[in-house]
Amino acid sequence: MAQAKEAWSSRFGVILAVAGSAVGLGNFLRFPGLAAQYGGGAFMIAYFVSLLLIGIPLGWVEWTLGREGGRRGFHSTAGIFHALMSRPWAKYLGVIGFFTPVVIYTYYVYVEAWCLGYALNAITGKLSVPGMNYGEFFARFTGAQADGVALQFGLHDVGIFVLIVYVLNFIFIYRGISKGIEMVCTYAMPALILIAIIILARVMTLGTPDAAKPDQSVLNGLGYLWNPRDVATGLKNPELWLAAAGQIFFSLSVGFGVIITYASYLKTKDDVVLSGLTASAANEFCEVGLGGLITVPAAFIFLGAAGVAGQGTFALGFNVLPEVFVRMPGGQIFASIFFILLFLAAITSSLSMLQPGIAFLEEGLGLGRKASVALLGLVTGLGTLFVWYFSRDLKAMDTLDFWVGTLMLFIQATILVIIFAWNVGIERGWALMHEGAEMRAPTIYKFILRWVTPLFLVAIFVMWLMKNVAGWNFSFSQPVFAPSGYVLDLIGAQPSPVARLAIGMIVLITAFALVLTHLAGKRWDAAAARTRTPKGKATP
Ligand code: ALA
Repeated sequence: MAQAKEAWSSRFGVILAVAGSAVGLGNFLRFPGLAAQYGGGAFMIAYFVSLLLIGIPLGWVEWTLGREGGRRGFHSTAGIFHALMSRPWAKYLGVIGFFTPVVIYTYYVYVEAWCLGYALNAITGKLSVPGMNYGEFFARFTGAQADGVALQFGLHDVGIFVLIVYVLNFIFIYRGISKGIEMVCTYAMPALILIAIIILARVMTLGTPDAAKPDQSVLNGLGYLWNPRDVATGLKNPELWLAAAGQIFFSLSVGFGVIITYASYLKTKDDVVLSGLTASAANEFCEVGLGGLITVPAAFIFLGAAGVAGQGTFALGFNVLPEVFVRMPGGQIFASIFFILLFLAAITSSLSMLQPGIAFLEEGLGLGRKASVALLGLVTGLGTLFVWYFSRDLKAMDTLDFWVGTLMLFIQATILVIIFAWNVGIERGWALMHEGAEMRAPTIYKFILRWVTPLFLVAIFVMWLMKNVAGWNFSFSQPVFAPSGYVLDLIGAQPSPVARLAIGMIVLITAFALVLTHLAGKRWDAAAARTRTPKGKATP
């Protein structure tokens, strides 16, 4: 079905590409922020439970279904569901695998542009402009002050960097699986790990830089993040579980529709069990072993607990850290390479969000590479323009991240595991997973995939709805129901026009994907009918 036969050039290449998709801003900004917010120890317990019950098994599901879809000539989620389930409606379920990565890309790439902009500004020693503190500079650079202000193109504006990251992403995606994505990840992944280790060594050898503040030491910085605080109370907090499970999805890129597409370019007998596990392990090393040891301890050492507490993901990376770097010996160099690290981590992830769209346009509509890249460029470009223009309080981005970057991941993951364990069937799914496998997954995972993962996902999803939509405070004795701001933005007394427009954009992209899927289905059915027609007989 695909226009050009594409494949990974080596097994190491595909593992690096999946790890590249996983290792991103989530590892170096989102994870440390959440771990600090939820008190280290308790969060890590929920995080590892989610890794074992959701992250690793769903990775295997996506690798297995993807490779099987690829065997049958399909690379998009819609095509793979169509091939595996042979039901007319199945392809429509796969629409989520198109619009989820496309929508996430539209705002993820905007943050990627900040990283590149910060890196270049840090190299030239101009991480702020005179008369502004770092927070003010951040608000100006990203357009958080007011709508429309970020559409500027000076060195201290985000505009030029948005254009550069767009060009880079689309050049690489145009070059294809092995010459584009695999090539970028082969250089970017080792480079980013090396940079992270260098920064980590710097942070770990800072000692106690201010003798007047002996508490602000490396050890206390690590303790602030990692010492268990109120583990029992923490684990009873449903919000902590939601945050931990959400982080596992976001960080491992499961439920995005990315891994399933990447795996569809594997060779028929390539291993998926060990490769899936290796990619997850690489992500965890970068997240817990590197990301978790850099940002928060560094900020704590210079600014103390007060400087770190309550800082959101972006504030930590773009307001707090620049202030930390100026106080650090060699700070300008470390600031530059830190933002280069973020940029490299981001681009290997953003590329992965484009490939499902390209695969779908190529195999669904029969478009060539140029046309599919142009069409996807147009759709994502309009989306990013929306996020870029409606930048006040980062409202457009935040709304899309909530409804697609969080909710859709739960939904898509649930669909995937149900298809694997119940539609394909656990026995057949397990056998497919182990074809060509270089290790056996523990047999307990048969039970986990069949029962535990789906139930855990449904439980998390119900809790998510109770918290955000119904707004329940999870108290039985004194229940309060107050829907979250995201819901009130849409249906509250004072709705947010930008949030409503964001939902409109999601609906438009979904409708576009549904129409394309319908057309794709017709092509696929016609192609299947042609193969069924015996030689010599004319097709009616
Ligand atoms: N997995 C990617 C990240 O962590 C999206 O940023």
